[in-house]
Amino acid sequence: MSEETSTFETSNGHLNKNGDSPSGGGKADRQESSAKGDGESAQPGTKRSRRKTQTPKSNPIATVTLGHNGSKVTALGIGTWAWGDKLFWDYGNTYGASEVEEAFKAAVQAGITFFDTAELYGMGESESLLGRFIKEADRPINVATKYSPAPWRFTVESVSEAISASLKRLQLERITLYQVHWSFNFLMSQETLMNALANEVQKGRIECIGVSNYSAEQMLEAHTLLARRNIPLAVNQVQYSLLNRKVETQGIINTARKFGIAILAYSPLSQGLLTGKYTAERTHIPNGARRIDPRFSFQGLYRITPVLNLLSQISEKYNKTPAQVALNWLIAQENVIPIPGAKNASQALENAGALGWQLAPEDISILEQATRPWL
Ligand SMILES: NC(=O)c1ccc[n+]([C@@H]2O[C@H](COP(=O)([O-])OP(=O)(O)OC[C@H]3O[C@@H](n4cnc5c(N)ncnc54)[C@H](OP(=O)(O)O)[C@@H]3O)[C@@H](O)[C@H]2O)c1
Repeated sequence: MSEETSTFETSNGHLNKNGDSPSGGGKADRQESSAKGDGESAQPGTKRSRRKTQTPKSNPIATVTLGHNGSKVTALGIGTWAWGDKLFWDYGNTYGASEVEEAFKAAVQAGITFFDTAELYGMGESESLLGRFIKEADRPINVATKYSPAPWRFTVESVSEAISASLKRLQLERITLYQVHWSFNFLMSQETLMNALANEVQKGRIECIGVSNYSAEQMLEAHTLLARRNIPLAVNQVQYSLLNRKVETQGIINTARKFGIAILAYSPLSQGLLTGKYTAERTHIPNGARRIDPRFSFQGLYRITPVLNLLSQISEKYNKTPAQVALNWLIAQENVIPIPGAKNASQALENAGALGWQLAPEDISILEQATRPWL
């Protein structure tokens, strides 16, 4: 089994891989494993008799080490924003607790043990649901959650209290990855915030520190502040998909690679658009806030039709789904871990099936060229 690692630059300027010998930085190597459980690589043009969301056997799954000597997580995580959220998503109406519990179980069964949540999602409900499901899980689960920097949170104690509350909801003693949700600087400076987080690493309540929605400069500042405490910045979680590639032109991807900071790609399916189920024919209307999102309007869907057609063609070739191809393209980018949302077992299983096979370089390149308008 090959294992992918993140790299980071130490305070004396060396790039380390796996926390040992100096190396060139962040190279991806996710060869082994099959989330689909058949242990074989998909070959373009070969047909398989099994269904695309067939329940996998428990084969080893590709993992990634977050930061220097950091936690090892699966190379794809499941996002849980929709678990308990009624503001943006449609929780409690078109799906509910039993569906998301089935999503959790299906993901774990498929080998995915990394879940992303936030104290904000469902006002704590996402963390509470996840905590309940983890209690019943038959293997260790890695949780990434997030701290909301709010104007009334300006003391070190407020960070500590937020972590205590998350740990309680998650029913855990330690959080694998604790991320700052946005780069807002109200009355608490980044220096105070990073030091407060570093204290929590030393106390053992969090394993790795991450940020989210940070620009390249902000990410570098967080990295530098943490390096003073000898703690690497493990992650920057940003919006990244074939239909939103701005992080590439904003220098975030390159800077993260240079400093060994892993990228957690959120909304990697462009909130369902890249699954191909929302088309200009509008036979399928999204629920929740996406109903008024221009990307889901006739014009928005018409514009992405060529990308959806291409994804459909490529997915046929590999006997995969468009969503699996879109996620595999992200996985093929160095140092990127997609965290697709899943509301039910079949979505979780399908998304897990983005692991265990690789797009050929020419298909990676065709998708890259076709989505340049979204750079
Ligand atoms: N840090 C941040 O600021 C931030 C912001 C946004 C998200 N996130 C994180 O990233 C995660 C994922 O992002 P996201 O939920 O915005 O978008 P996403 O993963 O691109 O899309 C998720 C939605 O797509 C649909 N879907 C997912 N898999 C599918 C499949 N296999 N087949 C068909 N439909 C499928 C589902 O909605 P429908 O079935 O209703 O279409 C699902 O809720 C979140 O859960 C959260 O953990 C972080």
